[in-house]
Amino acid sequence: MIDHFDVLAPWYDRLLRQPDVGRLARLLGLPSPGRLLDAGGGTGRVSEHLQGSVGTVVVSDLSQRMLKRARAKHIPCVRAHAEKLPFENGQFEHVLVVDALHHFCDQQQAIEDLIRVLKPGGRMLIEEFDLNKLPVQLLAMLEKMFLMGSRFLHPETIADMIAAHRLTVRIESGGRFAAWIVAEKTRA
Ligand SMILES: C[S@@+](CC[C@H](N)C(=O)[O-])C[C@H]1O[C@@H](n2cnc3c(N)ncnc32)[C@H](O)[C@@H]1O
Repeated sequence: MIDHFDVLAPWYDRLLRQPDVGRLARLLGLPSPGRLLDAGGGTGRVSEHLQGSVGTVVVSDLSQRMLKRARAKHIPCVRAHAEKLPFENGQFEHVLVVDALHHFCDQQQAIEDLIRVLKPGGRMLIEEFDLNKLPVQLLAMLEKMFLMGSRFLHPETIADMIAAHRLTVRIESGGRFAAWIVAEKTRA
């Protein structure tokens, strides 16, 4: 099957708006000397701005061509399913997913694996389009028409899926189209 992101990769960074790096860094608890996993991190569009605020950044993604762009920015990359990450338990102090959860094939499994690689005491941040907003509902319909296999979830549903693993979760809304789900993994 065609990978839409392999096709979009050469133009991706130019097509998208600049990320709100200040907000992402604040919600992630940066600066920090720890390690950050940017899962579904694509071209490193976000990670390239966070590299100076954290010890190490790793981008994981499925699309070879998106990763090729991230590698060109000297960001360490791993080709992997978010549902089956090739990392030991608790390797990352910070886990970030921007605009990617709705693309993951098995969101439940991806959330489980992202929590697995998050260190106790660590923080996970998911930025997603907020399905409570009408323009996002239209975008969800469009992505369905283009057979992108997207499955948008309400921020509250994502928060519940994470809280089921006994993390402390809160939602920050107030973005134009996005919501941010911030989760802390309690220390063992
Ligand atoms: C809309 S892009 C977002 C990229 C990046 N996070 C950003 O904000 O620029 C979604 C990314 O998720 C990746 N992706 C889709 N399904 C995936 C999966 N199951 N595991 C890992 N990455 C996946 C795609 O290849 C794509 O690079």
